Amino acid sequence: MTKADATPVLELTGIGKEFGAIRALHGVDMQVMPGEVVGLMGDNGAGKSTLVKIIAGNFRPSHGEIRFAGNAVHFSRPVDARAVGIEVVYQDLALSDNLTAAANVFLGRELKRKFGPIALLDHKAMAARAL
Ligand SMILES: Nc1ncnc2c1ncn2[C@@H]1O[C@H](COP(=O)(O)OP(=O)(O)OP(=O)(O)O)[C@@H](O)[C@H]1O
Ligand SMILES: [Mg+2]
Repeated sequence: MTKADATPVLELTGIGKEFGAIRALHGVDMQVMPGEVVGLMGDNGAGKSTLVKIIAGNFRPSHGEIRFAGNAVHFSRPVDARAVGIEVVYQDLALSDNLTAAANVFLGRELKRKFGPIALLDHKAMAARAL
């Protein structure tokens, strides 16, 4: 499959974001193809975090369109983005060093196994999903 005939997993077109008078993003176009790893680089304050927050549903874009697997999406909240499979692993300060990578991914929404009235953490399932 070549880049030309595949549907992007994620496609941003003309994304812009203003915080009052501050223009954080302007005319951002980006495609992420299946299996592709994309690095986003820029100066401090360039808008990287703002773009990730828009992709993750934390902020609504002021302008532009987001498509996921070819369909236009409008995320109002992070759970909307999570519902289609978008996850964000935040930087060091938001991580718990004493937990595994998988436990950090599922922090606050751990997968559990039920044994009657008792629920136990399902470490195996969390490790598999995180992988
Ligand atoms: N909630 C907000 N309210 C007002 N302005 C904001 C807000 N979030 C970000 N900005 C502004 O938007 C611009 C882009 O910031 P952003 O944090 O996205 O940059 P960044 O590329 O992630 O920077 P860094 O490399 O420092 O993490 C900056 O001018 C910043 O001050
Ligand atoms: Mg940042």
